[in-house]
This record gives sequence, C-alpha cells and structure tokens, in this order.
Amino acid sequence: MTGTERQQLLDAIRARFLREFGAAPARMFFAPGRINLVGAHLDYNGGDVLPMAVDRGVYVAATMRDDDRIRLVSLDQKSAHDLTAGKVPPRGEPSYGWANYPLGVWHGFRSRTGRARGFDLVYGGDLPMASGLSSSAAIEVVTALAFDAFYKTGYDRQQLALLAHRVENGYVGLRCGIMDQFASALGKPGHVLWLHCAGPRYEHVPFDGSRCEVLVMDTKKPRSLSKTHFNDRVAQCATAHETLRNHVRDLPHLADYDLADLEAASSAMDEVLFRRARHVITEMGRIQKGVVALRAGDYAELGRQLDASHRSTAVDYEVSCRELDVITDAARAQKGVFGARLTGAGFGGCAIALVEPGLGMRVAEQVGKVFAREFGVNAGFDLLRVGTGPVEL
Ligand code: GLA
Repeated sequence: MTGTERQQLLDAIRARFLREFGAAPARMFFAPGRINLVGAHLDYNGGDVLPMAVDRGVYVAATMRDDDRIRLVSLDQKSAHDLTAGKVPPRGEPSYGWANYPLGVWHGFRSRTGRARGFDLVYGGDLPMASGLSSSAAIEVVTALAFDAFYKTGYDRQQLALLAHRVENGYVGLRCGIMDQFASALGKPGHVLWLHCAGPRYEHVPFDGSRCEVLVMDTKKPRSLSKTHFNDRVAQCATAHETLRNHVRDLPHLADYDLADLEAASSAMDEVLFRRARHVITEMGRIQKGVVALRAGDYAELGRQLDASHRSTAVDYEVSCRELDVITDAARAQKGVFGARLTGAGFGGCAIALVEPGLGMRVAEQVGKVFAREFGVNAGFDLLRVGTGPVEL
C-alpha cells in the first residue's frame, strides 16, 4: 500500500466516523498484522516462534463517551453494533461476529479497572480478513491500545498483548497461543520477534528487507480460523504431551521433548498423535536454525527452513490444503525464491515466499498463472515490509 492509499484509507475512516456519529473522532490508533517465518503451531505447545509485524494492519478512530453506550462500525464489515454496557455478553456470541474482539477487550478493561464507559469506534484496515495475517489480533491490540490511552492505564506492550490474548482465549474461545497478539504488540521496524512462548520472553532479531523480499500469496480459500480444527490440534498436542509425561519424563511443555523421547513413547501413542508431536519437536529445531540463519544474513538457509516447515505442517500436522501446497510449490519452482510456507494457522488463507530483492512481483506473476490454471482463481499477491508496533497516529 502506498502512502497515498494509506492516507485515503485514513480519510475514509474519519469520514465514516463523522457520518455515523456526527463529529470527528478524538483519536486514531494503528496495530499491525503479522506473518510467521517459522514456528508453526508452537506457541500453544510452549515452543518458540519467529513472527514479523508487517506494514499493514488495523486502524481505529475512537472517541470515549460520557455514557455507557458502545457503537462499533467497520469499513469492511456489514454488521454494525450499538449496545449499552449492560448488554455486553459475558462471553463472545456468534451473532456479534467481528465485534466480539472489541467487546472482549472492553470487557477485559472493565474487569481489570472497573471502568465501563462507552466508546464510539470505527475500524478500517489494509489486511485481508481471515487470511492468516492476524487481522483479529490486530483488532484486539489496536482496541487495547486505544482503551489504555483513554483510560490512562499505562499498560506496557506486553501487558496489552496478554490482555488481547485473554480476549481470544477466554472471550472468543479460540485456544490459540500468544504469538499473534505479541507479534502485533511488540513489532519493531527492521526486526522479527523471537518469542519464547513458555516464558514468555522475547528478543528482536534483525531482518534485512534489502536482502530479502516477503511475498504474501493469498489463495483466497476461505479460512474462518476453523475453531474446531484448530482446537482439535490443541487437544491432540495436550494428549501427546500427557503420554510423554507418563511414559518418558515429566517436562512442562510438548516443545521441550526431543525425538528420542518421542520414539520411547511411540508404542503408547497412536500414529496421528505421534506425527503431531513430531511436527512440534522438529519445528523447534527449525526455529534454532532459522535464527542462526537470520543472524548470519543467510536468507537461502532461512528459506530452506521455511520449506521444511511447510512440509512438516502439511504431512505431520495436516493443516495445509491443496491450494496452499500448490501455491508454495509453484513459488519454490521460481528463480530467486529462497523458500515458501503457509502462514498463520493454515486450512486456507495465505502463504509467504522469501524472494531475492527485486524479483517478488515477477515471481507473483508466474505463480499466479500456475494457480489460476489449477484452480480457476486469481490468487492475490503483495510485497510486505517489516512494520512497526502499535501506535497512536
Ligand atoms: C493462529 C493462532 C496462533 C498460532 C498460529 C499457528 O494464528 O492464533 O496462536 O497458534 O495459528 O502457528
């Protein structure tokens, strides 16, 4: 997105706010989406992840009200919501759709601070929704930042991330790990986040955008973060962990075991659980190699880790799909591509490819042709840059 396009988006959000609520918004905030380089499905297994906040995300125009009315509008969603504090459900409800994210954050602030004032909020963004780039975490984080600013609670970025994560787990009911909210809240220009989810602890590792382009490839295959499939994987990993604890040794997280442990427990676990655990354990090795490669500026090696990660998520973890396999294979077949993998939870949505500088859009053109031939669908392509963390505009 160019500077002009971004300005147009901000103008559209302000104009909508004025039209809906009859006054200009008091303040505006932004929080980024993310891609994950390596570390698929490791966060809820106490492992490490390597996400990058991108230069796209969610904006909110906000005014705090004197009463307890809450009005929520989004440029991208048909449903708008107008309710009073007393009507905010204690848990997310399907009928509220996207609004469950801001309502969950509102709820989180109310239970922490006792404050229950109303807000007028208009959201807009430049992330494709439900595509694996964490639009929901960006909504949570940007709303938390806005409430923190209005209420002057003084939460730091990690506290905002944890609050946002509780919304997803406790309010929306997705048993995800902390990666998306941390990636959005702790984004830093020129860096990816190496997050040790068990702590949580983190450090930022440099990513040199002048040596490696990040091409995002949207299969357009809908992927409501299929709560059921996702929560199934979480449950399978919990069972595999329990088996390892009972049969081999007692370690706090599934990601802490090694392949020898897994072999030792193999007769006590069915083949599916074995593969789920093998993905988690081998993916931890790819994180280590990925970080070494990043520090050495070796993007070819980082790309190999992405390829291996995709294979493991497809074969052992089974969260890929034909569209994601075809699009990543087609990317790997192009000159100048370091590696490719699905990003986010999988089941559809987006993949990423790391590409030599200057070649990204040419790769996109070739991959687009292959994908259209195979599925009759025009995949979406875009170059992403490392973004900032959340900010007030
Ligand atoms: C989704 C979840 C994250 C993480 C990824 C898979 O994005 O929200 O917590 O589990 O899937 O790596």
